[in-house]
Order: sequence, then C-alpha cells, then structure tokens
Amino acid sequence: MNFKEQLKDYQRLIESELQKNIKKEDCLEKILNESMAYSLLAGGKRLRPILTISTYKLFKQDYEKCMPFAIALEMIHNFSLIHDDLPGIDNDDFRHGKPTNHKRFNEATAILAGDALLNYGYIIISNELQKTNKDELNKKIQVFQEFSKAVDRMIAGEYVDTEFEKRNITKENLDYIHKNKTGALLILAVRMGAILADAPKEELEKMTRYAQKIGLAFQIKDDILSEEGDEKKLGKPVGNDKEKGKCTYVSQYGLEESKRKLEELINEAIEELSEYGEKAEFLKELALYIEKREK
Ligand code: IPE
Ligand code: IPE
Ligand code: MG
Ligand code: MG
Repeated sequence: MNFKEQLKDYQRLIESELQKNIKKEDCLEKILNESMAYSLLAGGKRLRPILTISTYKLFKQDYEKCMPFAIALEMIHNFSLIHDDLPGIDNDDFRHGKPTNHKRFNEATAILAGDALLNYGYIIISNELQKTNKDELNKKIQVFQEFSKAVDRMIAGEYVDTEFEKRNITKENLDYIHKNKTGALLILAVRMGAILADAPKEELEKMTRYAQKIGLAFQIKDDILSEEGDEKKLGKPVGNDKEKGKCTYVSQYGLEESKRKLEELINEAIEELSEYGEKAEFLKELALYIEKREK
C-alpha cells in the first residue's frame, strides 16, 4: 500500500470508530448530540489519532489497544476546533468546507457541544481504565496523566493566542503559543502510541523529538496556509489571521523564512526516524505530508 492509500485506510478506520461513539438516542438533547456528530464527522484529517496508531505500530502490531486513546484525543481536538471558531475566539464561519458549528446550530449549542466532546474524551478513557488489568494499569494511568496535562496546555495556548491579538509579541511568547496550542496535542499523540506500545525510554525520547519538530512544523504550515492557501481546498478562511492581527509564524518572520523553517523542521523530524528504516516509512511520509498539505 502506498502512503496515500494507507492514510485513507487509517482515516476510514478512525471514522468508523468515531461513528461507534456517536450518541443517537432520541432524547431532549438530541440536537446537542447532532451538533457533536456534525463537527466530529465533518472531514478532519485525523492526524492526531493516526500519529498515535502509526507510532504504536513502530513497536507493536496490536494497535487496537491504543484506539480508545486515539479516539478520545480526536474528540478533544474537535472540541478545540468548535471553540476556536466561536465569535469570542476566532469568529470563523467555515471549517472543512461547511458552516462552523455555531453557524450551523447556534452559539449556545456550539459551546456545549465543545464541552460535551471534551468530557466524552475522558469518558472513553475512564471506561478503558476500568477494563484494564493490573499489569497494564500503571502505564495507562501515565498516559491519562499526560493526556490531561496536554489538554491543559492546549487550552492555555489558545488563551495566550487570543490575548496577543493585535499586539506585538516577543519570539519567546510566540514560541510559547505554538508549543502549547498545537504542539501539546501532537506530542501527546505520538507519546501515547509509544508509551502504550512499551517503547523503551530512549525510543520514547526520540519519538518525542520527532513530534516536537512536526508539531511546530504543523502550525507554521497552518499559518502559511492562512496567508496563501486556496480557500476551496482548505475548507476554512484564508487571510483571517492577518485580518484579526494574529501573532503567527508568518507575521513574525515573513513567508519566505517560514517556508525555510518548515522545510528544516521536517528534515530534522525525518532524521529522528533514520534508525527505524522501512518500519518508519509511513511516519516519514506523514512528516512530508505536513509540509506539502493543502488543507
Ligand atoms: C487545525 O488542526 C488546528 C490547529 C491546531 C492548527 P487540523 O488541521 O489538524 O484539523 P483537522 O481536524 O484536520 O481539520
Ligand atoms: C487552532 O489554531 C488551535 C486549536 C484549536 C487548539 P488556529 O486558530 O490557528 O487554527 P485554525 O486555522 O482555526 O484551524
Ligand atoms: Mg485560533
Ligand atoms: Mg482558528
């Protein structure tokens, strides 16, 4: 299977797992449930769960074992997107080529759908912990702790991002925003895969370095796309960062330097995988996909 087919395969796998976790019962909050499903199944790239699974597969084959954590992370990522688009944060009307959650439903529903997806992620993990035998419990508690801390960092990063709108920012503070709002969940995605697959400490560190590089690269690319992407392909607005006076990699360093840095980070990330040879082919291609992606 080539990279594109493998990526599609993973995306299908995650969609079907997400489908299983959609609430469908007839109840008073039916529309709230529909709005959660609306965002969750809107067509995200599923990068975070794919990173968890493909990192797990570097060390072990029975990747079903990391699936609940991968799905929980995708739920929380989608919570972050729903809230990120709200009028009080980025005030965006389109995502994945569709009206954003608050545009399709309303603001109250979008806020609560985000809250519910955040909590749903934790429900999935707590169900998983309850089913776990004693031998595996410590490892999963470590993952749970890293999970909750990464979510805390993502929220902090989102806060600082809004706080610095239309203001000058130091390079250190911009770095802080990137590390937290985007880096934290991407690093978590990779670390969960490695920890759950019992990767030795040095391997975990190596994979963490890979994740740090692609984490920053991912946000730089997001900033570049917000500057010069094709709105149709991207499915979300272009020019919105500039319009809102967002502090981004591009506003700080310019387009040319951003592209140079992006390429450098991707090369460094791939370098980290060199010892794994063929086994890490997908993760290498995934790094290149982050660099070249158009959405
Ligand atoms: C967008 O993330 C938000 C950022 C952290 C920059 P993705 O581009 O991974 O979102 P989807 O789920 O694929 O749309
Ligand atoms: C979103 O960052 C990051 C999170 C939701 C945590 P951005 O605001 O830069 O991402 P897009 O461009 O709206 O997807
Ligand atoms: Mg934002
Ligand atoms: Mg945004």
